[in-house]
Amino acid sequence: MAETIPDLRGIPKARAYEELRGHTKAILDGITDPIAAMATVAALVHHAFGHLWTGFYRVVEPGVLLRVGPYQGSLGCLDIAFGRGVCGTAAAEMRSIIVPDVDKFPGHITCDASSRSEIVVPVLGPRGDLLAILDVDSKQLDAFNEEDQRGLEQLVSWFATVKQ
Ligand code: SME
Repeated sequence: MAETIPDLRGIPKARAYEELRGHTKAILDGITDPIAAMATVAALVHHAFGHLWTGFYRVVEPGVLLRVGPYQGSLGCLDIAFGRGVCGTAAAEMRSIIVPDVDKFPGHITCDASSRSEIVVPVLGPRGDLLAILDVDSKQLDAFNEEDQRGLEQLVSWFATVKQ
């Protein structure tokens, strides 16, 4: 395999995510290991858009604890309790969250002080169970919108299609 990561900066977001989805599906063809898939998705999303941090917090104790999984970027925090920070809130409430300004999100957990905005989306497994939270951080304020939410949710819907 000699796949490259496309540079999708400057392309309209809907089209960029569509291209990324096709690329990801092709690369993950035949893969059933969720950690291998998370590592691949993190690398693709991170470098395609040039984010500050892109990665997964895995559910290690359902309803209780998230632990960092495959990621790209600066050093990530290791454990996040359900209900804490942006990731823990998304996990507890099973919903995507867009944070235009991290300083205005009560309880935001700072892993890298240069992060200014972020988006998190739940990753569901084949039984509809919460596998992980995908977290993407940017140095720019207000970097993410509903197009990112839709694009990332569609991208991680891959995890629900795989029998583990
Ligand atoms: N900001 C996140 C923590 C994870 S890092 O940004 C990598 C949060 O508040 O949950």
